Amino acid sequence: MLNFDFYNPTHIAFGEGKIADLNTLVPHNARVLMLYGGGSIHKNGVYDEVKLALGSRLVAEFSGIEPNPTYETLMKAVAEVKAHQIDFLLAVGGGSVIDGTKFVAAAAVFEGDDPWEILEKRGNNVNSALPFGSVLTLPATGSEMNSGAVITRTSIHAKLAFGSRHCFPQFSVLDPVKTYTLPVRQVGNGVVDAFVHVMEQYLTYPVNAPVQDRFAEGILLTLIEEGPKALETPENYEVRANLMWAATMALNGVISTGVPQDWATHMIGHELTALHGLDHAQTLAIILPAMLRVRKEAKREKLLQFADRVWGLRDGDEASRIESAISRMQAFFETMGVKTRLQDYGLGAEHIPALIASLEAHRMTKLGERRDVTPDISRQVLELAI
Ligand code: NZQ
Ligand code: ZN
Repeated sequence: MLNFDFYNPTHIAFGEGKIADLNTLVPHNARVLMLYGGGSIHKNGVYDEVKLALGSRLVAEFSGIEPNPTYETLMKAVAEVKAHQIDFLLAVGGGSVIDGTKFVAAAAVFEGDDPWEILEKRGNNVNSALPFGSVLTLPATGSEMNSGAVITRTSIHAKLAFGSRHCFPQFSVLDPVKTYTLPVRQVGNGVVDAFVHVMEQYLTYPVNAPVQDRFAEGILLTLIEEGPKALETPENYEVRANLMWAATMALNGVISTGVPQDWATHMIGHELTALHGLDHAQTLAIILPAMLRVRKEAKREKLLQFADRVWGLRDGDEASRIESAISRMQAFFETMGVKTRLQDYGLGAEHIPALIASLEAHRMTKLGERRDVTPDISRQVLELAI
């Protein structure tokens, strides 16, 4: 096992009715800015429950944080924070709202010239942030219990990630009932995103870390078993609860302790979203199967373990077990309603050069657990994904 530091200070309040706990989780004298998205929280009662729980606190609002939250929109929120002397942020929504709130928290107290530098430096220049919490409505990203965020700058077609130990939510409220209203597309996206998060941390090379491996395999099996049930029975509390906790555990730092991490699929996926507007999970469903096929030699041992322990594939030669495991995973993404080919989204070979140029412009030229995913390998992955 590799050396590691594990730090995660986020308090999780989980279960039906837990939004009421905001009354104790948010400081009583806080000047709160509540940040949310396009209005789903007005339709499913979340907005009303949050306002009720916040009681007589001073609460300003900032709405309109879009999926793949933009620097352009978020800088308006930073201006609101400054104008109203806000000292506590409350994100209410999915990963985009929580990520956006992390950026606002860091940008509002940023000491440099332009907070975009936070993205350029991947968060290494974040020395403090406003305190914030979240109410999660979409299980997918793990943003509710991690310190990362992904921000898009529309004007330059850039979608970049940053992370900082100052950007963990102080708390996150997870009420599975609030996920009943998710559109089918977002249910599928959430399951695929969480699945790929696990794969980025598990499907590398063995370092004798059986706790992390079996934990990762447990999350994958849970997503495979529970994901389709959420599509069939949207108001099944147990199913929603298990999916919600699986997605949180997939990216809160626990399964990445002491193991190598890949993340090449995510970095190529971010370019697909920045240039073509695909949903985050759609990009992952396209890239990961092709990535595993192109890099199957380097990942051979873990692919065989994945085939055995996650898909129960024990017969046949190694090559056929590996291909079957990748095919089963790809079929699972399709079962969740997420298409897995570039052509399914109207994209083809003619779009690949610009994607590679973007990877190079963003210095994404040595990706993967061994930093050997060059632009040439990324090109092979994209070509195989057509
Ligand atoms: O904006 P509203 O009206 O709220 O609607 C949202 C949005 O349109 C809707 N929605 C959310 N909860 C709902 C609901 N609709 C009905 N009922 C509910 N309960 O769902 C739509 C998508 O929301 P969004 O927040 O964009 O989705 P998601 O949670 O998948 O977040 C995606 C973003 O997170 C980033 C992605 O790159 C992308 O920008 N990621 C963040 C990560 C992190 N912080 O660690 C890691 C991930 O790999 C990912 O990159
Ligand atoms: Zn993701």
